[in-house]
Amino acid sequence: MNFFEIAQTRYTTKAYNGARIAEPTLDQLKEILRLAPSSINSQPWEFVFEDGQRKDEVFAPLSLINEARVRQASHVVIFRVLDSVERFEEQAPSYVSEGRRAFYSKYIKSQGEGHVQSWMEHQVYVALGYFLAACAAMGVDSTPMEGILPAEYDKHLPQDGYHTLFAVAIGYRDPEDSNQPDRTPKKRKTTVIL
Ligand SMILES: Cc1cc2nc3c(=O)[nH]c(=O)nc-3n(C[C@H](O)[C@H](O)[C@H](O)COP(=O)(O)O)c2cc1C
Repeated sequence: MNFFEIAQTRYTTKAYNGARIAEPTLDQLKEILRLAPSSINSQPWEFVFEDGQRKDEVFAPLSLINEARVRQASHVVIFRVLDSVERFEEQAPSYVSEGRRAFYSKYIKSQGEGHVQSWMEHQVYVALGYFLAACAAMGVDSTPMEGILPAEYDKHLPQDGYHTLFAVAIGYRDPEDSNQPDRTPKKRKTTVIL
């Protein structure tokens, strides 16, 4: 399937069939996330893959309208961002070039701490888009979910200087899922390209 076909056929899966994603596919998805692009190569993120009992008993009940999908999916992938600017600046020298750090100081940090935190969050959303496309290319169905309780998720995750922004359920669709594009055609604005 080429990318044009992926854009037409991928969709937000609302019901899964309970099947588990095979380990080699999971390994590739993890590596794809590690390779995601970010501004100045900042990589201010961490991704947590949960499955089995923890997915069903800990994270599904903290997933609001998405509870059933998290339960039926193979895995829930939790997207987290660095908590603090200081932490980013400590880590950056090992993977952000000096020239890019100079750009960061002059044009990003100069706009204040709130701006830097928001800029870091934007990078995690870039990884989300990359991941959704990658899943579709690999025949894996997905549900991006802001409809979770991130602060509650964090109580069950490492206290390691990152916090949760959103999660993605991944797995294989229930063949009866009514949100599939042949049953529920995509609704998009027509004039977004000028
Ligand atoms: C950041 C983000 C958060 C979303 N949160 C949810 C969610 O909590 N639950 C859900 O069922 N869909 C969620 N969606 C899916 C959107 O509603 C969906 O992408 C949009 O309606 C377009 O439909 P499509 O993905 O099937 O093409 C989210 C999408 C994005 C990009």
